[in-house]
Amino acid sequence: MYICICNAITDKQILAAQQDGCQSIDEITHTLGVGNCCGNCLDKAEDLLIENAGVQKFNPAMASQLAFSAG
Ligand code: FES
Repeated sequence: MYICICNAITDKQILAAQQDGCQSIDEITHTLGVGNCCGNCLDKAEDLLIENAGVQKFNPAMASQLAFSAG
């Protein structure tokens, strides 16, 4: 599936770059060119990296709930 239409970059290319050592969206942009044109793909590409790494995006609303429940 294409993630970056401007540069014809697929999800598989992004995941392969991540496996090869790219750890951030900045590194993916530098390596593949994802997001270097209109930038509309950056959120989707970043979500893909995060999902593949098994972590979640920071959610301030969730953080405040955790702070209240911990006390
Ligand atoms: S869709 Fe990726 S830079 Fe435009």
